[in-house]
Amino acid sequence: MAESVSVTSRMACLGGACRLLPAASRAKAYSLPLLSRPPSISLSSVKCLRSSPSAFPLFLNRKFQSRSLVHPPSAGGAVGSPTCFASNPDQLKSAREDIKELLKTKFCHPILVRLGWHDAGTYDKNIEEWPRQGGANGSLRFEIELKHAANAGLVNALKLLQPIKEKYSTVTYADLFQLASATAIEEAGGPKIPMKYGRVDVSGPDQCPPEGKLPDAGPPSPATHLRDVFYRMGLNDKEIVALSGAHTLGRSRPERSGWGKPETKYTKDGPGAPGGQSWTVQWLKFDNSYFKDIKEKRDLDLLVLPTDAVLFEDPSFKVYAEKYAEDQETFFKDYAEAHAKLSNLGAKFDPPEGFST
Ligand code: HEM
Repeated sequence: MAESVSVTSRMACLGGACRLLPAASRAKAYSLPLLSRPPSISLSSVKCLRSSPSAFPLFLNRKFQSRSLVHPPSAGGAVGSPTCFASNPDQLKSAREDIKELLKTKFCHPILVRLGWHDAGTYDKNIEEWPRQGGANGSLRFEIELKHAANAGLVNALKLLQPIKEKYSTVTYADLFQLASATAIEEAGGPKIPMKYGRVDVSGPDQCPPEGKLPDAGPPSPATHLRDVFYRMGLNDKEIVALSGAHTLGRSRPERSGWGKPETKYTKDGPGAPGGQSWTVQWLKFDNSYFKDIKEKRDLDLLVLPTDAVLFEDPSFKVYAEKYAEDQETFFKDYAEAHAKLSNLGAKFDPPEGFST
Protein backbone atom coordinates (compact mmCIF):
# COMPACT_ATOMS: atom_id res chain seq x y z
CA MET A 1 0.00 0.00 0.00
CA ALA A 2 2.69 2.44 1.04
CA GLU A 3 4.48 1.74 -2.20
CA SER A 4 1.45 2.34 -4.40
CA VAL A 5 0.72 5.63 -2.63
CA SER A 6 4.24 6.86 -3.15
CA VAL A 7 4.31 5.81 -6.77
CA THR A 8 0.99 7.44 -7.47
CA SER A 9 1.92 10.68 -5.85
CA ARG A 10 5.21 10.75 -7.65
CA MET A 11 3.54 10.15 -11.00
CA ALA A 12 1.01 12.85 -10.13
CA CYS A 13 3.91 15.17 -9.60
CA LEU A 14 5.38 14.16 -12.94
CA GLY A 15 2.08 14.73 -14.65
CA GLY A 16 1.07 17.87 -12.78
CA ALA A 17 2.92 20.65 -11.02
CA CYS A 18 6.33 19.37 -12.04
CA ARG A 19 5.52 19.12 -15.73
CA LEU A 20 7.17 21.14 -18.42
CA LEU A 21 7.43 24.83 -17.71
CA PRO A 22 5.60 27.49 -19.68
CA ALA A 23 7.57 29.39 -22.28
CA ALA A 24 8.24 32.33 -19.95
CA SER A 25 9.87 30.12 -17.33
CA ARG A 26 11.87 28.41 -20.02
CA ALA A 27 13.17 31.75 -21.22
CA LYS A 28 14.09 32.53 -17.64
CA ALA A 29 16.09 29.34 -17.47
CA TYR A 30 18.35 30.70 -20.18
CA SER A 31 18.93 33.93 -18.32
CA LEU A 32 20.16 32.22 -15.17
CA PRO A 33 23.40 33.72 -13.90
CA LEU A 34 26.26 32.21 -15.82
CA LEU A 35 29.27 30.85 -14.04
CA SER A 36 31.98 33.37 -13.36
CA ARG A 37 33.97 34.29 -16.41
CA PRO A 38 37.42 32.71 -16.61
CA PRO A 39 40.13 35.38 -16.72
CA SER A 40 41.21 34.34 -20.19
CA ILE A 41 37.90 35.22 -21.81
CA SER A 42 37.84 38.70 -23.26
CA LEU A 43 35.06 41.14 -22.52
CA SER A 44 34.28 41.34 -26.20
CA SER A 45 33.57 37.59 -26.16
CA VAL A 46 31.16 38.04 -23.32
CA LYS A 47 29.45 40.91 -25.10
CA CYS A 48 29.21 38.63 -28.08
CA LEU A 49 27.62 35.98 -25.87
CA ARG A 50 24.62 38.21 -25.37
CA SER A 51 24.31 39.42 -28.93
CA SER A 52 25.29 36.63 -31.26
CA PRO A 53 22.23 34.97 -32.74
CA SER A 54 24.02 32.03 -34.27
CA ALA A 55 26.82 30.55 -32.19
CA PHE A 56 28.04 30.25 -28.64
CA PRO A 57 30.51 33.13 -28.79
CA LEU A 58 33.02 31.85 -26.25
CA PHE A 59 33.65 29.20 -28.84
CA LEU A 60 33.66 31.33 -31.94
CA ASN A 61 37.32 32.14 -32.10
CA ARG A 62 38.67 30.79 -35.38
CA LYS A 63 41.83 29.53 -33.80
CA PHE A 64 39.75 26.98 -31.88
CA GLN A 65 37.98 25.68 -34.94
CA SER A 66 40.88 23.97 -36.68
CA ARG A 67 39.86 20.64 -38.17
CA SER A 68 43.25 19.02 -38.21
CA LEU A 69 46.80 19.90 -37.40
CA VAL A 70 50.12 18.51 -38.41
CA HIS A 71 51.84 16.79 -35.51
CA PRO A 72 55.28 15.29 -35.22
CA PRO A 73 55.55 11.48 -35.48
CA SER A 74 55.86 11.29 -31.70
CA ALA A 75 52.30 12.52 -31.48
CA GLY A 76 51.06 9.14 -32.59
CA GLY A 77 51.76 8.82 -36.31
CA ALA A 78 54.06 6.61 -38.35
CA VAL A 79 57.75 7.30 -37.78
CA GLY A 80 59.22 9.54 -40.44
CA SER A 81 56.00 10.96 -41.81
CA PRO A 82 54.11 13.88 -40.31
CA THR A 83 50.61 12.86 -39.30
CA CYS A 84 47.44 14.84 -39.58
CA PHE A 85 45.20 14.10 -36.57
CA ALA A 86 42.03 15.90 -35.57
CA SER A 87 43.29 16.15 -31.96
CA ASN A 88 46.87 16.02 -30.74
CA PRO A 89 47.14 12.85 -28.60
CA ASP A 90 49.58 14.42 -26.11
CA GLN A 91 47.33 17.42 -25.62
CA LEU A 92 44.36 15.10 -25.23
CA LYS A 93 46.10 13.24 -22.40
CA SER A 94 46.93 16.52 -20.66
CA ALA A 95 43.36 17.71 -21.14
CA ARG A 96 42.17 14.55 -19.39
CA GLU A 97 44.28 15.43 -16.34
CA ASP A 98 42.83 18.94 -16.29
CA ILE A 99 39.31 17.50 -16.51
CA LYS A 100 40.08 15.33 -13.47
CA GLU A 101 41.10 18.46 -11.55
CA LEU A 102 37.94 20.24 -12.66
CA LEU A 103 35.83 17.33 -11.43
CA LYS A 104 37.53 17.45 -8.04
CA THR A 105 36.76 21.11 -7.53
CA LYS A 106 33.41 21.57 -9.29
CA PHE A 107 31.70 18.17 -8.87
CA CYS A 108 30.41 18.60 -12.40
CA HIS A 109 30.50 14.91 -13.41
CA PRO A 110 26.77 14.75 -14.28
CA ILE A 111 26.58 17.78 -16.52
CA LEU A 112 29.71 16.73 -18.43
CA VAL A 113 28.16 13.31 -19.07
CA ARG A 114 24.99 14.99 -20.28
CA LEU A 115 27.00 17.29 -22.56
CA GLY A 116 28.69 14.35 -24.30
CA TRP A 117 25.40 12.49 -24.65
CA HIS A 118 23.57 15.47 -26.12
CA ASP A 119 26.30 16.12 -28.69
CA ALA A 120 26.25 12.46 -29.82
CA GLY A 121 22.53 11.72 -29.38
CA THR A 122 21.35 13.73 -32.39
CA TYR A 123 22.70 11.04 -34.73
CA ASP A 124 20.45 9.62 -37.45
CA LYS A 125 21.70 6.37 -38.96
CA ASN A 126 19.42 6.88 -41.96
CA ILE A 127 21.40 9.89 -43.12
CA GLU A 128 24.73 9.01 -44.68
CA GLU A 129 26.18 12.43 -45.18
CA TRP A 130 28.48 13.90 -42.52
CA PRO A 131 27.71 16.11 -40.66
CA ARG A 132 24.04 16.25 -41.70
CA GLN A 133 23.60 12.92 -39.91
CA GLY A 134 24.30 14.62 -36.55
CA GLY A 135 26.23 12.96 -33.75
CA ALA A 136 29.50 13.52 -31.90
CA ASN A 137 30.85 16.34 -34.02
CA GLY A 138 31.09 19.29 -31.60
CA SER A 139 28.02 21.07 -32.99
CA LEU A 140 26.68 21.55 -29.47
CA ARG A 141 29.14 24.40 -28.97
CA PHE A 142 26.98 26.66 -31.13
CA GLU A 143 24.32 28.81 -29.56
CA ILE A 144 21.65 27.75 -32.00
CA GLU A 145 21.91 24.16 -30.73
CA LEU A 146 22.46 25.13 -27.10
CA LYS A 147 19.13 26.94 -27.28
CA HIS A 148 17.26 23.73 -28.10
CA ALA A 149 14.92 23.07 -25.16
CA ALA A 150 16.57 19.70 -24.44
CA ASN A 151 19.92 21.42 -23.92
CA ALA A 152 18.82 23.85 -21.19
CA GLY A 153 21.66 24.40 -18.74
CA LEU A 154 24.38 22.82 -20.88
CA VAL A 155 25.93 26.23 -21.55
CA ASN A 156 27.34 25.84 -18.02
CA ALA A 157 29.18 22.69 -19.03
CA LEU A 158 30.69 24.49 -22.01
CA LYS A 159 31.86 27.32 -19.79
CA LEU A 160 33.55 24.84 -17.47
CA LEU A 161 35.43 23.28 -20.38
CA GLN A 162 36.34 26.55 -22.07
CA PRO A 163 39.65 27.13 -20.20
CA ILE A 164 40.71 23.57 -21.05
CA LYS A 165 39.85 24.12 -24.71
CA GLU A 166 41.91 27.32 -24.69
CA LYS A 167 44.87 25.56 -23.09
CA TYR A 168 44.79 22.59 -25.49
CA SER A 169 43.52 24.26 -28.61
CA THR A 170 44.33 21.35 -30.93
CA VAL A 171 41.86 19.10 -29.13
CA THR A 172 38.59 19.30 -31.05
CA TYR A 173 35.33 20.11 -29.29
CA ALA A 174 33.91 16.79 -30.40
CA ASP A 175 36.77 14.96 -28.68
CA LEU A 176 36.75 17.25 -25.65
CA PHE A 177 33.04 16.67 -24.99
CA GLN A 178 33.43 12.89 -25.23
CA LEU A 179 36.67 12.90 -23.24
CA ALA A 180 35.02 14.93 -20.49
CA SER A 181 32.03 12.58 -20.34
CA ALA A 182 34.05 9.35 -20.25
CA THR A 183 36.45 10.81 -17.68
CA ALA A 184 33.51 11.88 -15.51
CA ILE A 185 32.05 8.36 -15.55
CA GLU A 186 35.39 6.82 -14.66
CA GLU A 187 36.18 9.35 -11.92
CA ALA A 188 32.74 8.83 -10.37
CA GLY A 189 33.61 5.17 -9.84
CA GLY A 190 32.18 3.83 -13.09
CA PRO A 191 33.75 1.42 -15.57
CA LYS A 192 36.64 2.24 -17.86
CA ILE A 193 35.14 3.24 -21.21
CA PRO A 194 36.96 1.86 -24.28
CA MET A 195 37.17 5.24 -25.99
CA LYS A 196 38.87 6.32 -29.17
CA TYR A 197 39.62 9.86 -30.25
CA GLY A 198 40.31 11.95 -33.33
CA ARG A 199 36.82 13.34 -33.91
CA VAL A 200 36.60 16.15 -36.45
CA ASP A 201 34.56 19.25 -35.54
CA VAL A 202 31.83 20.77 -37.63
CA SER A 203 32.85 24.26 -38.63
CA GLY A 204 29.71 26.39 -38.35
CA PRO A 205 26.25 26.71 -36.83
CA ASP A 206 24.67 25.92 -40.19
CA GLN A 207 25.85 22.35 -39.59
CA CYS A 208 23.92 21.94 -36.33
CA PRO A 209 21.11 19.36 -36.29
CA PRO A 210 17.47 20.46 -36.17
CA GLU A 211 15.73 20.58 -32.81
CA GLY A 212 13.83 17.54 -31.56
CA LYS A 213 16.35 14.72 -32.00
CA LEU A 214 16.80 13.95 -28.29
CA PRO A 215 14.24 12.03 -26.21
CA ASP A 216 11.41 13.61 -24.23
CA ALA A 217 11.06 12.56 -20.60
CA GLY A 218 7.26 12.38 -20.62
CA PRO A 219 5.96 11.27 -24.03
CA PRO A 220 2.51 9.64 -24.33
CA SER A 221 4.06 6.23 -24.93
CA PRO A 222 7.51 6.16 -23.32
CA ALA A 223 8.63 2.74 -24.61
CA THR A 224 7.66 3.51 -28.21
CA HIS A 225 9.28 6.92 -27.96
CA LEU A 226 12.54 5.58 -26.55
CA ARG A 227 12.69 3.00 -29.35
CA ASP A 228 11.91 5.61 -32.01
CA VAL A 229 14.73 7.84 -30.81
CA PHE A 230 17.40 5.27 -29.90
CA TYR A 231 16.75 2.93 -32.86
CA ARG A 232 17.21 5.99 -35.10
CA MET A 233 20.69 6.22 -33.56
CA GLY A 234 21.29 2.53 -34.29
CA LEU A 235 21.07 1.52 -30.61
CA ASN A 236 19.09 -1.44 -29.27
CA ASP A 237 16.98 -2.24 -26.19
CA LYS A 238 19.97 -3.38 -24.12
CA GLU A 239 21.82 -0.17 -24.93
CA ILE A 240 18.76 1.97 -24.13
CA VAL A 241 18.52 0.44 -20.65
CA ALA A 242 22.28 0.47 -19.99
CA LEU A 243 22.66 4.10 -21.08
CA SER A 244 19.65 5.19 -19.02
CA GLY A 245 21.75 4.01 -16.07
CA ALA A 246 23.78 7.22 -16.47
CA HIS A 247 21.00 8.79 -14.40
CA THR A 248 22.72 7.23 -11.42
CA LEU A 249 24.55 10.57 -11.66
CA GLY A 250 23.09 14.02 -11.38
CA ARG A 251 19.88 15.86 -10.88
CA SER A 252 16.94 17.26 -12.77
CA ARG A 253 16.12 20.91 -12.26
CA PRO A 254 12.63 22.31 -12.86
CA GLU A 255 14.06 25.60 -14.08
CA ARG A 256 15.97 23.75 -16.78
CA SER A 257 14.06 20.74 -18.04
CA GLY A 258 10.80 21.31 -16.18
CA TRP A 259 11.25 17.98 -14.39
CA GLY A 260 12.04 17.28 -10.78
CA LYS A 261 11.68 19.10 -7.49
CA PRO A 262 13.48 22.39 -6.80
CA GLU A 263 15.42 20.64 -4.03
CA THR A 264 15.41 17.54 -1.86
CA LYS A 265 17.20 16.43 1.26
CA TYR A 266 19.83 14.88 -1.01
CA THR A 267 20.50 18.01 -3.07
CA LYS A 268 19.84 21.03 -0.86
CA ASP A 269 23.46 21.32 0.22
CA GLY A 270 25.11 20.50 -3.08
CA PRO A 271 27.96 19.68 -3.65
CA GLY A 272 28.13 22.06 -6.57
CA ALA A 273 25.15 24.34 -7.11
CA PRO A 274 22.50 23.13 -4.63
CA GLY A 275 19.03 22.01 -5.67
CA GLY A 276 17.26 19.79 -8.15
CA GLN A 277 16.04 16.24 -7.70
CA SER A 278 18.38 13.29 -8.11
CA TRP A 279 17.57 9.77 -9.22
CA THR A 280 19.82 8.31 -6.51
CA VAL A 281 20.94 9.18 -2.99
CA GLN A 282 24.64 9.39 -3.86
CA TRP A 283 24.25 11.18 -7.14
CA LEU A 284 27.97 11.72 -7.70
CA LYS A 285 28.72 8.00 -7.46
CA PHE A 286 28.39 5.82 -10.53
CA ASP A 287 26.92 2.46 -9.55
CA ASN A 288 23.73 0.45 -10.18
CA SER A 289 21.64 2.23 -7.54
CA TYR A 290 19.55 3.89 -10.30
CA PHE A 291 18.07 0.50 -11.18
CA LYS A 292 17.56 -0.50 -7.56
CA ASP A 293 15.88 2.80 -6.73
CA ILE A 294 13.49 3.00 -9.68
CA LYS A 295 12.52 -0.61 -9.10
CA GLU A 296 11.55 0.21 -5.52
CA LYS A 297 10.10 3.68 -6.11
CA ARG A 298 9.89 4.11 -2.34
CA ASP A 299 11.68 7.40 -1.75
CA LEU A 300 9.71 10.45 -2.85
CA ASP A 301 12.86 12.51 -2.75
CA LEU A 302 14.21 10.46 -5.66
CA LEU A 303 13.18 11.12 -9.23
CA VAL A 304 11.59 8.61 -11.61
CA LEU A 305 10.81 10.05 -15.04
CA PRO A 306 8.21 8.23 -17.16
CA THR A 307 11.09 7.12 -19.41
CA ASP A 308 12.88 5.71 -16.34
CA ALA A 309 9.78 3.91 -15.01
CA VAL A 310 9.13 2.20 -18.34
CA LEU A 311 12.43 0.33 -18.08
CA PHE A 312 10.73 -1.91 -15.50
CA GLU A 313 7.39 -2.00 -17.34
CA ASP A 314 8.24 -2.89 -20.93
CA PRO A 315 8.87 -6.66 -21.18
CA SER A 316 12.03 -6.35 -23.27
CA PHE A 317 13.57 -3.43 -21.32
CA LYS A 318 12.68 -5.15 -18.04
CA VAL A 319 14.96 -8.11 -18.65
CA TYR A 320 17.98 -5.79 -18.67
CA ALA A 321 16.75 -3.45 -15.92
CA GLU A 322 16.20 -6.40 -13.55
CA LYS A 323 19.61 -7.80 -14.41
CA TYR A 324 21.36 -4.48 -13.79
CA ALA A 325 19.56 -4.02 -10.45
CA GLU A 326 20.93 -7.39 -9.37
CA ASP A 327 24.34 -7.41 -10.95
CA GLN A 328 26.50 -4.30 -11.03
CA GLU A 329 29.30 -6.03 -12.90
CA THR A 330 27.06 -6.78 -15.89
CA PHE A 331 25.72 -3.24 -15.79
CA PHE A 332 29.25 -1.81 -15.84
CA LYS A 333 30.29 -4.03 -18.75
CA ASP A 334 27.20 -3.23 -20.83
CA TYR A 335 27.31 0.44 -19.90
CA ALA A 336 30.95 0.82 -20.95
CA GLU A 337 30.28 -0.77 -24.35
CA ALA A 338 27.12 1.25 -24.95
CA HIS A 339 28.77 4.51 -23.86
CA ALA A 340 31.69 3.98 -26.23
CA LYS A 341 29.27 3.22 -29.08
CA LEU A 342 27.23 6.33 -28.30
CA SER A 343 30.38 8.46 -28.26
CA ASN A 344 31.27 7.31 -31.79
CA LEU A 345 27.89 7.98 -33.42
CA GLY A 346 28.22 10.31 -36.38
CA ALA A 347 31.88 10.94 -35.56
CA LYS A 348 34.32 11.45 -38.43
CA PHE A 349 37.72 10.31 -37.23
CA ASP A 350 41.05 11.64 -38.31
CA PRO A 351 42.92 9.29 -38.60
CA PRO A 352 39.95 7.24 -39.89
CA GLU A 353 40.50 4.47 -37.34
CA GLY A 354 40.79 6.98 -34.49
CA PHE A 355 43.38 6.60 -31.76
CA SER A 356 43.34 5.67 -28.10
CA THR A 357 45.46 7.23 -25.40
C1 HEM B 1 16.48 7.70 -22.11
C2 HEM B 1 16.13 8.92 -22.42
C3 HEM B 1 16.53 10.09 -21.59
C4 HEM B 1 15.73 11.07 -21.13
C5 HEM B 1 14.25 11.23 -21.43
C6 HEM B 1 16.55 11.95 -20.32
C7 HEM B 1 16.07 13.07 -19.69
C8 HEM B 1 16.79 13.83 -18.79
C9 HEM B 1 16.30 14.97 -18.07
C10 HEM B 1 14.87 15.53 -18.17
C11 HEM B 1 17.30 15.43 -17.29
C12 HEM B 1 17.27 16.64 -16.36
C13 HEM B 1 17.99 17.81 -16.97
C14 HEM B 1 17.97 19.05 -16.10
O1 HEM B 1 16.90 19.42 -15.62
O2 HEM B 1 19.06 19.65 -15.91
C15 HEM B 1 18.43 14.59 -17.51
C16 HEM B 1 19.62 14.73 -16.85
C17 HEM B 1 20.70 13.90 -17.07
N1 HEM B 1 20.82 12.96 -18.06
FE1 HEM B 1 19.31 12.18 -19.14
N2 HEM B 1 17.81 11.48 -20.31
C18 HEM B 1 17.86 10.35 -21.07
C19 HEM B 1 18.97 9.60 -21.35
C20 HEM B 1 20.23 9.87 -20.90
C21 HEM B 1 21.43 9.21 -21.35
C22 HEM B 1 21.48 8.16 -22.46
C23 HEM B 1 22.46 9.73 -20.62
C24 HEM B 1 23.92 9.43 -20.68
C25 HEM B 1 24.46 8.38 -21.25
C26 HEM B 1 21.90 10.73 -19.72
C27 HEM B 1 22.61 11.44 -18.78
C28 HEM B 1 22.06 12.41 -17.96
C29 HEM B 1 22.77 12.99 -16.83
C30 HEM B 1 24.15 12.61 -16.32
C31 HEM B 1 21.91 13.94 -16.27
C32 HEM B 1 22.17 14.83 -15.06
C33 HEM B 1 22.67 16.19 -15.51
C34 HEM B 1 22.97 17.13 -14.35
O3 HEM B 1 22.90 16.75 -13.16
O4 HEM B 1 23.32 18.29 -14.64
N3 HEM B 1 20.56 10.80 -19.94
N4 HEM B 1 18.10 13.63 -18.43
